[in-house]
Amino acid sequence: MTSVAYLGIAELVTNDPSLGDGGPLGRRTDAGVVVDAGRVVWVGDTADVPATDERVDVAGRCVVPGFVDSHSHLVFAGDRAHEFAARMAGHPYAAGGIRTTVAATRAASDDELRTNATRLLAEMRRQGTTTVEIKSGYGLTVADEARALAIARELTEEVTYLGAHVVAPEFADDPDGYVALVTGAMLAACAPLARWIDVFVEDGAFGPDAARTILSAGRAHGLEPRVHANQLGPGPGVQLACELGAASADHCTHLSDADVDALTGSGTVATLVPGADFSTRSPVYPDGRRLVDAGVTVAVATDCNPGTSYTTSMPFVIALAVRECGLTPAEALWSATAGGAAALRRTDVGHLGIGAVAHLTVLDAPSHEHLAYRPGVPLARVLAG
Ligand code: NIG
Ligand code: FE
Repeated sequence: MTSVAYLGIAELVTNDPSLGDGGPLGRRTDAGVVVDAGRVVWVGDTADVPATDERVDVAGRCVVPGFVDSHSHLVFAGDRAHEFAARMAGHPYAAGGIRTTVAATRAASDDELRTNATRLLAEMRRQGTTTVEIKSGYGLTVADEARALAIARELTEEVTYLGAHVVAPEFADDPDGYVALVTGAMLAACAPLARWIDVFVEDGAFGPDAARTILSAGRAHGLEPRVHANQLGPGPGVQLACELGAASADHCTHLSDADVDALTGSGTVATLVPGADFSTRSPVYPDGRRLVDAGVTVAVATDCNPGTSYTTSMPFVIALAVRECGLTPAEALWSATAGGAAALRRTDVGHLGIGAVAHLTVLDAPSHEHLAYRPGVPLARVLAG
């Protein structure tokens, strides 16, 4: 291992308030960072950078922690471009579209699924993402869920069992039988392959009682809960997530006062995925401003999937979080890094404090504001990690 100094950083965002100003961002100007053995070992002024084996001058660019994309569904086959086009022509989105991707995914070979997921992960990385969560949920049989998780595990440590994405088509007339499978043989096969368990709580997917049963069964097998909640309309998902101490309630597009109250002071992160609101042509976006003002920890993620959010771009999501969810550029960047890490209960990523994993993303811009200010422009790339 060689030590590397990155210097000439016009703006460094550390997300460690003790290392700089700008509140939670811990920003420094004209900064340097030293990395050794894959960890951040020094942060300071460019002028004071100690001797290292290598020096990399980023020439007046901005460096931020690598993005943490805490919600994605990368293991699938096919696409649903026609469904997207129909939505843009006025047709509504419904959860049942998931079954189209289930059929394509079941018909695909392991190699096809692996190749597609690897391609999408590479797209993420090309846009500055260094930590990714990946869910199953397009198999819905014991064997198809287990193979999705096995492929996800080849790509990340943050793997989520989402057998409860929708009721499998074979169980259309027996949803209780499907819940029994998800909490029985499927869970037994999948639990050793995953860290998390997730349920899509929504009309057309799973109600609160089934979701509680599924998440509790997962916990008994060592999986920690996260919940797809309040995406398409008001519902019980957010309060269930808080009741169960889930790491994250994801979507949060339709929140009541009681939902915001439940999130406030809970250990549950509100993960906004505005790419899904964009692509489903939702009439409303999640109210990130209200959540931040209430003291809720907010993450933003891509939710990359072929149905509702076929984007791998955290910069795009940051731009939406600013323009549509009411976050400031600083808050949106924090949510895309430290917020994502909180949603995955990780303290080693999402910041550049001393001892952090050295995941550095560089922007072809002098400050973090440019991420939302220059939407659609490929500014971000991984510098280290
Ligand atoms: O997060 N909400 C449920 N799951 C996905 C949609 C999946 C699909 O339509 O294929 C989501 O938006
Ligand atoms: Fe999702």
